[in-house]
Amino acid sequence: MAARTVIELDSVRKTYGDGTVAVNELSLAVREHEVLALVGPSGCGKSTTLRMVNRLVEPTSGRILLNGEDVTTADPVALRRRIGYVIQNVGLFPHRTVEANISTVPALLGWDRRRTRARVVELLDLVGLPAATYAKRYPHELSGGERQRIGVARALATDPPVLLMDEPFGAVDPEFRRHLQTEFQRIQRETGTTVILVTHDIDEAARLGDRIAVLSRGGKLEQVASPLAVLAHPASERVRDFTGEGAASRMLALACVDRADLESADRIVQPAPAPVRLGARLTDAFEAVAALPGSAMGRVPVVEESGDVVGSLTADGILGALRRAADAAGTGQGAPAVQDAVDGVPEDEPGRQPAV
Ligand SMILES: Nc1ncnc2c1ncn2[C@@H]1O[C@H](COP(=O)(O)OP(=O)(O)OP(=O)(O)O)[C@@H](O)[C@H]1O
Ligand SMILES: [Mg+2]
Repeated sequence: MAARTVIELDSVRKTYGDGTVAVNELSLAVREHEVLALVGPSGCGKSTTLRMVNRLVEPTSGRILLNGEDVTTADPVALRRRIGYVIQNVGLFPHRTVEANISTVPALLGWDRRRTRARVVELLDLVGLPAATYAKRYPHELSGGERQRIGVARALATDPPVLLMDEPFGAVDPEFRRHLQTEFQRIQRETGTTVILVTHDIDEAARLGDRIAVLSRGGKLEQVASPLAVLAHPASERVRDFTGEGAASRMLALACVDRADLESADRIVQPAPAPVRLGARLTDAFEAVAALPGSAMGRVPVVEESGDVVGSLTADGILGALRRAADAAGTGQGAPAVQDAVDGVPEDEPGRQPAV
């Protein structure tokens, strides 16, 4: 599948004034409609990379292309209208209300007041901060996590075709972060926005990223691959250090129950336990097997969409599925359920729609 490249970094280097090499010969292509999760330890050049894409920082050498056009020759203001940016540590305008902050880009684009207002209400709702309470507040009247949510709302205001997000959910509590991640994923799938998402959180990267790019200190690209491939086949010790322990359990969330992992339905002990769906995440299948009563002999029925039982699954079957997923991620060959995760972006993306 040859997805179009939207952002291309070509041997980009950034050396700051004091000689710090923040980014070193970084070459990276971000494909249309994908979420590329950019991860790596603190100080490895993630924010610098994002800031170079929208020209808040100029590269020392190399080229950055947006839709084939060199950003260093583009008008920075026009560029930033096309690129949504969620700044690490928020960066709201302190003397503007929440509503005015979110309306920044709609105003630049000349939206009328009604449309802007409706969008603000919609976005505030989305990030769980009702307009009636929050629209007229100033940033200093918000908690850190609330400010961050306003930052996300502001970046989404006009459904920009390209979105750069620097730790957008970092200051939000785990439960609400999960909710925001889900909402973000829904919007991203709907609008087909191309996203670079910086995060420290490997689980967030694996969950939201179609691919993960791992940087190490000094801004060196260690690996860029599907979440499954990064977890199953870390390209270097530094990647392994970053992905840390628990790669196998993380992979459970990325791979699905496939027919190839099933055994005969005849072996299900009656009364049959609650079934697992074909295509369910292995995490769910594992939980179902772990929760079985002793009488079920470690075997759950597996049903297809119609509800018909198509086989049975055991812990061994789940392990087999995990190995299959790992092999498929390494070779790029695999069962369809895994292949989606390997290839990342679905083919049937809708056209981009302007915000209403
Ligand atoms: N204006 C600057 N002048 C000098 N050095 C800088 C400047 N900005 C960043 N750096 C250095 O460049 C390196 C990369 O910084 P950057 O902010 O890109 O890291 P990061 O990966 O985003 O880190 P974090 O995860 O902590 O946000 C760091 O060593 C940092 O100290
Ligand atoms: Mg940073």
